[in-house]
Amino acid sequence: MKMDHSLKEEAKMLQKELTVYSRCYHVLDDPVITDSEYDRLLKRLVEIESQYPELSVADSPTKRVGAPPLDAFESAAHSIPMLSLDNAFEDDDVHRFHARNIKNLGVNKILYTAEPKLDGVAVELTYENGILIRATTRGDGIRGEVITENVRTIGSIPLRLNTSQSPVPALIEIRGEIIITTRDFERLNKRRLGKGEAEFANPRNAAAGSLRQLDSRVTATRPLTIFVYGVGMVRGMAFETQARMLAALKEFGFPVNKHIQSGISIKEVLIFYKKLAEIRPDLEYEIDGMVIKVDRMDMQQALGEKIKSPRWAIAYKFPATQETTTILDIIIQVGRTGTLTPVALLEPTNVGGVVVSRATLHNADEIKRKDIRVGDRAIIMRAGDVIPKVVKVIKSRRKGDELPFEMPERCPVCSSQVRRLEDEAAIKCINVACRAQLTERIKHFVSKKGFDMDGLGKKIVDQLVNEGLITSFADLFTLDQDRLAALDRQAEKSVSNLIKAIEGSRLISFPRFLFALGIDHTGENAARLLSRRFDTLENLMAADKEVIENIHGMGEKTAASVVRFFANQENQRIIRQILEAGVSIQNDLFSQDTVSNHVFSGKTLVLTGTLETLKRAEAKKRLQALGAKVTSSVSAKTNFLVAGRDAGSKLTKAQNLGVTVLDETQLNQMLQE
Ligand code: IVH
Repeated sequence: MKMDHSLKEEAKMLQKELTVYSRCYHVLDDPVITDSEYDRLLKRLVEIESQYPELSVADSPTKRVGAPPLDAFESAAHSIPMLSLDNAFEDDDVHRFHARNIKNLGVNKILYTAEPKLDGVAVELTYENGILIRATTRGDGIRGEVITENVRTIGSIPLRLNTSQSPVPALIEIRGEIIITTRDFERLNKRRLGKGEAEFANPRNAAAGSLRQLDSRVTATRPLTIFVYGVGMVRGMAFETQARMLAALKEFGFPVNKHIQSGISIKEVLIFYKKLAEIRPDLEYEIDGMVIKVDRMDMQQALGEKIKSPRWAIAYKFPATQETTTILDIIIQVGRTGTLTPVALLEPTNVGGVVVSRATLHNADEIKRKDIRVGDRAIIMRAGDVIPKVVKVIKSRRKGDELPFEMPERCPVCSSQVRRLEDEAAIKCINVACRAQLTERIKHFVSKKGFDMDGLGKKIVDQLVNEGLITSFADLFTLDQDRLAALDRQAEKSVSNLIKAIEGSRLISFPRFLFALGIDHTGENAARLLSRRFDTLENLMAADKEVIENIHGMGEKTAASVVRFFANQENQRIIRQILEAGVSIQNDLFSQDTVSNHVFSGKTLVLTGTLETLKRAEAKKRLQALGAKVTSSVSAKTNFLVAGRDAGSKLTKAQNLGVTVLDETQLNQMLQE
């Protein structure tokens, strides 16, 4: 078969590029493309090389398990190569893996162990007669770097095996993944920012960078930990199954991940995959998939290995949460309080199943620190339900025509001068009459947690303000059929629904009213605290700063801003107007007596897992109505944890802290009391 010339060129290009990317990732801890893009390019190269084996040269990245170790550390060969894993991206790939195993073993049943695929740094720990004598990185799979001194600083790694329950193996090489939890990662980055040091792009890079310190005293300050999942060479001990091996490693004193299922069928493996994907956002560390391993060691041995990867295991990847895209433009959004926020417009990219086309850049300092320019290729990330952010730009991919960004000196909406407040990163438009600010204030006013004017969506608010139909909160209550019908594309039906929604919102609880006003630093929680302390708006407006500050749970910033807000004559006029437009504040919508007597009153609760009978938001609303505080993380201050189906790490933490755990039925019963 004659080879297509352009295919040869493509293979050469890919080999060259992937070699560079791999070195940046493995050796320099400075990835220039996302894992998913790397996987895609590599897959393409494997495809071409399998079609034309003569292109599969000795130094092709397809031949490599990893990248060569750094010269600065001593290197050592692994007694048994540390292999890589083949990837599965969909259920069918897993079915094929299983069918192949069945065929190769000539059996009709195989049981598996399924484990989270931890996103950290693979290491091998060698114990001779129970003592840690050496630790190495995976390196290129054949040879790794010797990092014994650094590993000894990691508290969760035993220096001597606990062998009280078993004989001491003459030699055992234990393999696992060194990680940094997401919370530790954020703290570490904050600390680095404070010292003017560069942030790490993600926990895996932070772990790799920390392990690659020539001075182990530096490593000692880093929050590294480990989960172990396998063995290399073992003398004087044998394991029948993966499950028994994990149990033995746990007994030796190693952390073994708790989200592991053993002795399960391939069908159960796939169910567990879904469960793992669901709890993934709640885990305290990053995982990028699930590793499926044939449980029986004799079967593993019979299946054997290929050059790069074993036949008895496969990695079923989760959709990536990081992707590479292009920054098409940087625009400015003007917020409710006048803050100018730069937002990156991105080439629309699918990140873990959701198409992302914008990412907030926070402020000018952030753009400067990350040196973000229009036209840059950038790594973007979406974790859990968090809004997308730009992790970093790829400077090595610059062509030279990328444009640095400057914050404007005038508000892009009203052209007033902008100002940078002292001690704040934010730049603000100080014209309170700015149309953008008014629009955002109105959106906040009518939102679910405020006046809840159903149907008055963002687009309609934009139109109402742009057409000059509303210039203040009070104007909302004077909107009638005729005025609304003048708007574009407003079907009569939705207009009458809108009018109903506005009518219905005239009666409002005190905390919602306060929230709707959009006072700086005054969210739902603060509004509720204020309304509980001061039964009426009049009382609150007359209150001193000291009294407000003394409310349990109230911050100093909020207190100052509340006092400032009500002292302002313009704000007093706006409130008068709203009340004159027929709004009535129901001070006793939730009677104080029933509230303060309830078991949940004044208590702090955390909701986790899936609730079956009522939505989380609904449960939260009802708890808050009873005077409870609902927070998102478990701490010693938590009074109750409500654990729904598939509750994850928060449940464990609550149990460890001795927090009272309620199930959904108990919650419902107590809510009704
Ligand atoms: S088993 C030959 N189990 O994935 C078996 N690996 O792509 C390979 N990894 O280098 C190791 N979690 O760094 C195994 N539960 C787990 C894992 C895991 C993460 C990493 C490991 C390995 C890479 C293979």
